[in-house]
Amino acid sequence: MCGIVGYIGSLGGPLRPLQVVIEGLTRLEYRGYDSAGIAINAESGIEVRKKAGRVENLNALLEAEPIPEGKSAIGHTRWATHGSPSDLNSHPHLSPDSEVAIVHNGIVENHQELREELLAQGASFSSETDSEIVVHLLGKEFARIGDLEQAMRNVVKRLEGSFALVAIAHRDPDRMVAARRNSPLVVGIGEGENFLGSDVAAFVGYTKLAMAIDQDQMVVVTANSVTVSDFDGNAVEPKTYEVDWDVNAAMTDGFDTYMEKEIHEQPRAVVDTLLGRRSKNGELHLDELRIDEAELRAIDKIIVIACGSAAYAGHVARYAIEHWCRIPVEVELAHEFRYRDPVVNSKTLVVAISQSGETMDTLMAVRHAREQGARVLAIVNVFGSTIAREADAVLYTHAGPEVAVASTKAFSAQIAAAYLLGLYLAQLRGNKYPDEVATYLDELAQMPERMASVLEQEDAVKELARKMSDVESVLFLGRHVGFPIALEGALKLKELAYIHAEGFAAGELKHGPIALVEEGLPIFVIVPTPRRPLLHSKVISNLEEVKTRGARVVVVAEEGDTAVNDLAELIIRVPHSTPTLMMPLVTIIPLQIFACELARQKGYDVDKPRNLAKAVTVE
Ligand code: G6P
Repeated sequence: MCGIVGYIGSLGGPLRPLQVVIEGLTRLEYRGYDSAGIAINAESGIEVRKKAGRVENLNALLEAEPIPEGKSAIGHTRWATHGSPSDLNSHPHLSPDSEVAIVHNGIVENHQELREELLAQGASFSSETDSEIVVHLLGKEFARIGDLEQAMRNVVKRLEGSFALVAIAHRDPDRMVAARRNSPLVVGIGEGENFLGSDVAAFVGYTKLAMAIDQDQMVVVTANSVTVSDFDGNAVEPKTYEVDWDVNAAMTDGFDTYMEKEIHEQPRAVVDTLLGRRSKNGELHLDELRIDEAELRAIDKIIVIACGSAAYAGHVARYAIEHWCRIPVEVELAHEFRYRDPVVNSKTLVVAISQSGETMDTLMAVRHAREQGARVLAIVNVFGSTIAREADAVLYTHAGPEVAVASTKAFSAQIAAAYLLGLYLAQLRGNKYPDEVATYLDELAQMPERMASVLEQEDAVKELARKMSDVESVLFLGRHVGFPIALEGALKLKELAYIHAEGFAAGELKHGPIALVEEGLPIFVIVPTPRRPLLHSKVISNLEEVKTRGARVVVVAEEGDTAVNDLAELIIRVPHSTPTLMMPLVTIIPLQIFACELARQKGYDVDKPRNLAKAVTVE
């Protein structure tokens, strides 16, 4: 997830392109802040200024090295995915002949193949990014045919994955050409000037008239015109709309809070985390692997270490990895791991899960594990973070920046990454045949759509939260992979709404927690699929036990599961035929919405809950 901005116009004086783009970048910083950069199409040629870090670093550079004026400008604020956050990996990227500049948001899945093709033709690259490949291809194509629009059309046909691209060419100074697939792109329509952005926050201070660019479409923008077409060149009727958001609402995509926005971004976070993982021959690969594959084949134990929500993602990982790989998996809170003298050796793989990659408890546990001779694989969201750097292998989640303190989309992305890791190890160690791995990956690819269908039930869950806004205690029950989801549901409620909440393994109910059940106590029950009759019938019994004791039962159950019909105050349905192990990606969503809405009813700041910090960098 990165932010892109474009401006072209003949109004407002020569400094306007610079001013608009810098302002847009500042507003898009929530999309990424690893680096910022701008390119201006000046008379003397395309000029680029770019710098690692926040937009303020770019501003300092622009003061030290002012950029010439021009009619159009493009800008980029980066959330690193391929290549560390450095000056060289920053956007915009220039073609080798400096004729064309681009900014890119997305992940080019076939970048390796294209890179090899370009290298064979003698290209040399100055960055580690997938985006530089695109500008090489575009530069070559533009040099060959001299038409930026057609050149872009030819190049996007060669790209796989996701991209929103904006390009300018020195010899074609009166237009910007943009294209999108799977990454957002909107046009802002002004008078005598036009804008491009990843979202309307990029230009909402200048115009409220916007135009959506749909999947696999291109747009050519001049100072006075906007022309939309599909990738084959067929004209497309543009869809314009009025933006009725102020700048703040635009930054949260129309939601009142980042938390709500991030809850809704979860399908996207999972799509992005799955992107680009399969090589041409169908094999899964990790992002950075500094462990010999023979060593990975020899491991005889996995220990997952993490804190908070990441630890619950780790619990889900255990069910999947043990089932697919037949390796024993332990899950441990990072701060406990280090002080209990764990049994680890060179045959232990320690999996550290962390959104920030900076959580001190997790980092210290990583160091301890490595000192004991274990190999460490990190699942982290922030590129180049300390845990990513110190681990022997990294699998990045591509959730984009998570602004709200309590984790939602990073949690889902961690679970998706854990499945990928499980399948990777199963493939490497021969526990699963390639076609079996492929079938699981296909199922995984369907999960974002299933997640979206659960998000559609948001209103009913919010209504329930409003009805329950004065409850003082809530219990969550789950079994198998529903158990960590019960724990995470309870954590969300504690973090956001500051009320007592507990998650239990449903089977444990009769061993103690049932004593807590009294008239009117809300209990959420995550019901396993009826396709697992043993598990299912046991949870239904638990449900009946709490119901007869007067609990207000809320159920998360599969579509078509009639056994729950008369047992609950509200039934939230998750799609039928979701694989059992992948259920957490859909069952967590209503619990997040419930906690968020209940906290909002109480008037709390859900983005910044009291006493909590996003990255806890002290032990
Ligand atoms: C803090 C946050 C939690 C997060 C935990 C682990 O406690 O408030 O939302 O789950 O840290 O953070 P990490 O960055 O390591 O995933």
